[in-house]
Amino acid sequence: MSASDNPVVRVGVIGAGLMGREVASAFGRWFALLDCPVRPELVAVCDVNPAALDWFRQVPSVRHFCATHHELLACEDVDVVYAAVPHHLHEQIYLDVLRAGKDLLAEKPFGIDLRAARAIREEGERLGRFVRVSSEFPFLPGAQRVMKFVQGNDLGALLSIRSRFLHSSDLDPKKPINWKRITQFCGEAGVMNDLGLHVAHVPLRLGWRPLWVYAQLQKIYESRPDGKGGTAKCDTWDNAMVHGTAQIAGQSVPLSLEMKRMAPTETNTWEIEVLGTDRGVRYSTKEPKTLWQYSRAEEQSWSKVDLGFAMPFKTITGGIFEPGFPDLLQQMWAAFLAERAGKLEGRFGCATPAEAVAHHEIWTAALLSHVEQRVVSV
Ligand SMILES: NC(=O)c1ccc[n+]([C@@H]2O[C@H](COP(=O)([O-])OP(=O)(O)OC[C@H]3O[C@@H](n4cnc5c(N)ncnc54)[C@H](O)[C@@H]3O)[C@@H](O)[C@H]2O)c1
Repeated sequence: MSASDNPVVRVGVIGAGLMGREVASAFGRWFALLDCPVRPELVAVCDVNPAALDWFRQVPSVRHFCATHHELLACEDVDVVYAAVPHHLHEQIYLDVLRAGKDLLAEKPFGIDLRAARAIREEGERLGRFVRVSSEFPFLPGAQRVMKFVQGNDLGALLSIRSRFLHSSDLDPKKPINWKRITQFCGEAGVMNDLGLHVAHVPLRLGWRPLWVYAQLQKIYESRPDGKGGTAKCDTWDNAMVHGTAQIAGQSVPLSLEMKRMAPTETNTWEIEVLGTDRGVRYSTKEPKTLWQYSRAEEQSWSKVDLGFAMPFKTITGGIFEPGFPDLLQQMWAAFLAERAGKLEGRFGCATPAEAVAHHEIWTAALLSHVEQRVVSV
């Protein structure tokens, strides 16, 4: 059977912004994948902004252009919905998707807060829908190798775990405001809602959960240009350092989660480091090809290895080439569709509703910790 005989899943996108367009791009070159058992077809798009829909008119498979999500959900030829809308809309739109009988790839943070995340998870379970949450960085060859390294080696006593996701464009005070910088739309957790699943996903998948946290949160610029000649209040947390303690193999291990919109020179840096007394591993998108491994023998040393294109799903791309963000997104979709079809076959699966709820539990404790300036149990 050739790849073109694979069953087709018809996808609708709600929210035709930055992320909605990336999905169309990932599907448009699906033939690059060699062993994904399912083929997606983007058939419907919805956005309240008609101009956002226009870009999708060049995508040949799209046949429904919808002004409301209700219109899209009424399309019988949509099996799966990807929803990428501002956070304050997650709960209502995700619940509507599930109640319309569709499966869901939800954008993070999976509801604006913990209460919303639990409500969405419970409705998905009650209705028996397949629901996963978008988080693409763990599909990086470097991230995959970090997880394999940790699972396949005795690191000795664990010294520390550090997971970070860093941006820098907000350092420009002239950058106009958008909904992600306004609490009403982004949520009380601010940058933790925005970047948090990216740092929490791998630790949670490895079973590492902080039991206690102490958080340092910062709001740096209080206003920004509103893009219309005036200024607007910018009231979200910009930077968050969440210092946690996880119980791993009977030891208390420092687990630090760092999310920053203002980290000088870091455009989209995702990194993780796990250190033990005997072995350790580190990967950063700052050096996208390089996996660093620490070992202690007669001498202590870091060694590095170039990774190439070792993705969970095989592709036509040469093994020595470098992956980028669009490749990760395509891999994440391949995992979503394969798992939905019961054919993940041991490959890495997308973030689950339980992991999304767990990450909100950490940020809820972090908010309280910052306000009360104390250690809070999660
Ligand atoms: N996984 C990732 O790497 C990643 C990256 C960026 C954003 N995100 C997430 O994706 C989601 C969307 O972010 P974005 O950057 O694409 O935002 P965006 O502002 O670029 O796009 C959001 C779109 O939703 C539309 N919209 C607003 N209300 C709507 C409604 N009621 N019905 C239909 N459409 C509506 C807007 O008009 C806009 O086009 C957020 O949850 C965000 O956290 C994820």
